[in-house]
Amino acid sequence: MNSNIRIGIIGSGGIARAHAKAYKKIPGVDIVAVADVVPGKAAQFIADQELTGALPFEDHNRLLELELDGVSVCTPNVAHHRASIDALEAGKHVLVEKPLSVTLQQGIEMVQASKRTGNMLSVGFQPRYDPNMVAIKDIVQSGRLGKVYYVETGGGRRRGMPGGTFIKKELAGAGAMADIGCYSLDMALNALGYPKPLTVSAVTSNYFGTNPKYHKEAASFEVEDFGAAFIRLEGDITLQFKISWAMHMDTLGASYFLGTDAGLKVSTPYNGSSWNGVWDGGVGSITLYHDEIGRHAETSIPVLQHQVDRFFEKVNDFVRAIRENRPAPIPADQILFNQAIIDGILRSSETRREVDIVIPNF
Ligand SMILES: NC(=O)c1ccc[n+]([C@@H]2O[C@H](COP(=O)([O-])OP(=O)(O)OC[C@H]3O[C@@H](n4cnc5c(N)ncnc54)[C@H](O)[C@@H]3O)[C@@H](O)[C@H]2O)c1
Repeated sequence: MNSNIRIGIIGSGGIARAHAKAYKKIPGVDIVAVADVVPGKAAQFIADQELTGALPFEDHNRLLELELDGVSVCTPNVAHHRASIDALEAGKHVLVEKPLSVTLQQGIEMVQASKRTGNMLSVGFQPRYDPNMVAIKDIVQSGRLGKVYYVETGGGRRRGMPGGTFIKKELAGAGAMADIGCYSLDMALNALGYPKPLTVSAVTSNYFGTNPKYHKEAASFEVEDFGAAFIRLEGDITLQFKISWAMHMDTLGASYFLGTDAGLKVSTPYNGSSWNGVWDGGVGSITLYHDEIGRHAETSIPVLQHQVDRFFEKVNDFVRAIRENRPAPIPADQILFNQAIIDGILRSSETRREVDIVIPNF
């Protein structure tokens, strides 16, 4: 394809700036329109980001009337569903920010729209582009661990609760699960080759978010700040998961992959900061535990100190997939399993029972 790739952005808040910055660095890409429900916000974004010639809209459907190759959906979680489906139906490829959706049912409808229209729906998990995350997947997929039967992942911030749209049920859908939990789930599930989740037993709570001592918006805090879950995956793999926006602890520890031939321990790059300690990119250490000549051995896998701009890579990969007519780099039908776990955690916590996860075949 010789002509420029034409991009629209829906939702012009914080993360849209990172999308715009990345698109602007890619030769042959033009951001031609921006939509935001708040009057004047898209126009201000266009001016701030110096997107010469781009058109502002309030209604994303007006933006979708334009000839566009791809659309970044950067709205709060709750609007991912409508904006993505409308964009797919309008013939555009979509890069939707994480998490995919708020409910599993919404995610299913988004995947169905992608299949029905033949347009790609890719999800914005930039940690996938970290060379150390790639190494973790390579080790697990190499078979070096033997049969992997147990995985533990997640993480916690000592004090790291966002506010605004992130703590409103009707905008975010969920709290720590949707904001940071989806990252650690993606790290583990992607390394395993995304096995299907079968059941979830979970608890969630919000002791910190609702306490004015810890959150200045405690009166309007409507989501969970902590969750712990026991998840059965297909292939007889058990996944234990915990995530916390706030806690009286420095870290919730490393992630573990236990296999019949070796084990893998992966730590987050914890540096003592109260917002640190979760998987939103970066790896602290990777250690392989195995037996050699009948003795316990530990091999430290070097963690690369790299300059890879993960966010740029995710946006660039989306553009490359459009140009080369490739499938979605991070396909929504895979991330649906991630969303199904979050949905299962919330349902299980509410019903205080283990719940089944039912995902249709597409
Ligand atoms: N990948 C990452 O590193 C990362 C980081 C932060 C946020 N996110 C995700 O990005 C999304 C947006 O987060 P944010 O921090 O930019 O939020 P934000 O509140 O700063 O921005 C969202 C914008 O969308 C607009 N909006 C709301 N509904 C809309 C609709 N129907 N159509 C058009 N515009 C609409 C709002 O007015 C606002 O300007 C969330 O899903 C969040 O989980 C991803």
